[in-house]
Amino acid sequence: MTKPTALVTGGAGFIGSHCCLDLLMNGYEVVVVDNLVNSSAIALDRVRQISGQDMAFYASDVADQAAMDTVFRNHKIDVVVHFAAYKAVGDSMDRPLEYYSNNLTGLLTLLAAMSKADVKHMIFSSSCSIYGDATELPITEASPARPTNPYAQSKWMSEQILTDLCSRYPDWSVTALRYFNPAGAHESGEIGEDPCGVPGNVLPYLSQVAAGRLDEVQVFGSDYPTADGTAVRDYIHVMDVVEGHRLTLETGAVPGFRRYNLGTGVGTSVLELVEKFAAVSGRPIPYRLSGRRPGDVPELVAAPDLAHAELGWTARRNLTDMCQDAWRFQQLHPLGYEGLITTLGSSR
Ligand code: NAD
Ligand code: WQD
Repeated sequence: MTKPTALVTGGAGFIGSHCCLDLLMNGYEVVVVDNLVNSSAIALDRVRQISGQDMAFYASDVADQAAMDTVFRNHKIDVVVHFAAYKAVGDSMDRPLEYYSNNLTGLLTLLAAMSKADVKHMIFSSSCSIYGDATELPITEASPARPTNPYAQSKWMSEQILTDLCSRYPDWSVTALRYFNPAGAHESGEIGEDPCGVPGNVLPYLSQVAAGRLDEVQVFGSDYPTADGTAVRDYIHVMDVVEGHRLTLETGAVPGFRRYNLGTGVGTSVLELVEKFAAVSGRPIPYRLSGRRPGDVPELVAAPDLAHAELGWTARRNLTDMCQDAWRFQQLHPLGYEGLITTLGSSR
């Protein structure tokens, strides 16, 4: 039997590389498109090494129509898993047009190429950020979307484009997976999260403090209406996130547009996370309480029941697993994928 072939856009990135590995290990052919704007091709080499399998790679922009048409001509694609996007909230406030352009033009160009090639099945990376400052917790898929920054807005606009597409053309099958706070790394410690420059997200930041690369972590806000005053998030292991994609694929090309939260349903405060990472790493994590980070909300926790009921998916890993796996990647690759080059400011 021929293996189903998945085109993974953004496949060299944090979540994409783990998804490629999971798909290869579970009977899929994988084709990657990534322009490496926020990643390294070394991640793909590591995926090949761990899986013992190869995959095609195009160092192309998803917004390049000719390049995307070539990919669909060269491979018989069954499904597209679309990760490629810019993803940093703060950066999107500084560069709104770049975010709308990359995230929306990329999606529209990809859809045009799919349409030409008669490929009508997609999983789309959406985000809990579309919910903004949620008034009711835990957050269900029916909670209102109130994006508060250009990044989140681009994800919500993408969902609306995909909803309209599926309404007009009922033979399309699109599933938007709304991830909460992905964290951790593959258990091998060979692939993980390797942000360019100083990490903006809390878990890679803690990891670098534990490793001694950074002096201390600032805890943004200690006056929130939460148990210890620091903000609460729903951290979810990256391998649970990618298993959610595979289970979605296993439900087949269900016609229409669907959306699911991928979270654990468990909230963790920043101070609880600092304490957990210190315990797991066995290293002190100096921290300093400071003011709230603009745009942050007090608490975001998913109701993951719909994904459980309809996809048969449940997060299987806990916060200790996330910290242990992130720490293993940090220890095995203290300077990330490209070692010294990265710290010298290579644009990759
Ligand atoms: P990432 O930056 O590590 O991966 C994105 C990848 O897409 C990178 O490898 C980048 O080089 C590539 N890319 C970006 N624009 C491209 C373009 N125009 N053409 C080709 N490649 C392009 O980010 P990630 O954390 O792996 O996120 C993957 C997806 O999940 C993104 O769509 C993101 O918005 C979404 N998401 C991420 C999080 C999170 O916290 N990590 C949470 C919710 C949703
Ligand atoms: C978590 C908590 C910070 C850094 C973002 C996006 C969201 C999704 C996941 C893409 C917050 C605090 C952080 C630090 C800190 N991504 N913090 N010190 O902001 O919840 O979510 O990533 O879709 O859309 O908004 O994640 O890891 O940046 O922050 O105290 O040095 O840690 O204030 O409360 P966030 P984060």
